[in-house]
Amino acid sequence: MMSSAMLYGLGVGPGDPELLTVKAMRLLQAVPVVAFFAARGRPGVACNILAGLIPESTEQMRLEYPVTTEIPVSDPRYGALMGDFYNQSAERVAAVLDSGRDLALVCEGDPLFYGSYMHVHRRLEGRYPIEVVPGITGMSGCWSRAGLPMTYGDDVLTVVPGTLPKEELAARIANCDALVVMKLGRNLQKVRHALDEAGLLERALYVESGTCEAEIRRPLRAMQGVKAPYFSMILVPGRGRAP
Ligand SMILES: C[S@@+](CC[C@H](N)C(=O)[O-])C[C@H]1O[C@@H](n2cnc3c(N)ncnc32)[C@H](O)[C@@H]1O
Repeated sequence: MMSSAMLYGLGVGPGDPELLTVKAMRLLQAVPVVAFFAARGRPGVACNILAGLIPESTEQMRLEYPVTTEIPVSDPRYGALMGDFYNQSAERVAAVLDSGRDLALVCEGDPLFYGSYMHVHRRLEGRYPIEVVPGITGMSGCWSRAGLPMTYGDDVLTVVPGTLPKEELAARIANCDALVVMKLGRNLQKVRHALDEAGLLERALYVESGTCEAEIRRPLRAMQGVKAPYFSMILVPGRGRAP
């Protein structure tokens, strides 16, 4: 360990700032530096959730993705660009820790559940003391706000990113009970088709900006558009096999 300064991987919950944990709130007030990821020209999802909650005296570090959807994830250029970006992000975080200051890298939902935080975590573990503070996941926030019982009795919950190729998507959701589809964006039509084929369209609920003031919720079958925003998911409740 080079430094005793702490890195916190801070989950900030699904969107409603009241769904932050007491621990996350305490650390946000205490750390001298808060870092967050953001798409180019955008405020950053976790940072948005925290609007007004980060003290003015706190230094903020913006980690801006070089690309988001401009290049397909399967393109080798995507992996190379993002690998460099996470290396540089980890070194920027390391420089703060080396100066003896604690830093919280904030992440929407839970940091270890599809969170970009993990890429920095993997690069710095063993070099610095790290504490991960769990957050309420987006899916948990969305199904709670919708009052949607998800998994009954022996139901199996499947979680898939909508970015999967259509054959793999179809294979993963065949025979599933309860299902969550994350990362919709331009994959909405492909996902809708796969759900229809699997006989799940009738039970599917679309949620955008779940738990936020701007939340939109509607049955997927009533959706017209071919694209969804980044901050959206689909929930399919289980079959209710419990007694
Ligand atoms: C990179 S993953 C981050 C997941 C996050 N760490 C979590 O615990 O939920 C981003 C995806 O999470 C989903 N998501 C997270 N929070 C959401 C919310 N409040 N409403 C809708 N979708 C959400 C969306 O599908 C989005 O594309």
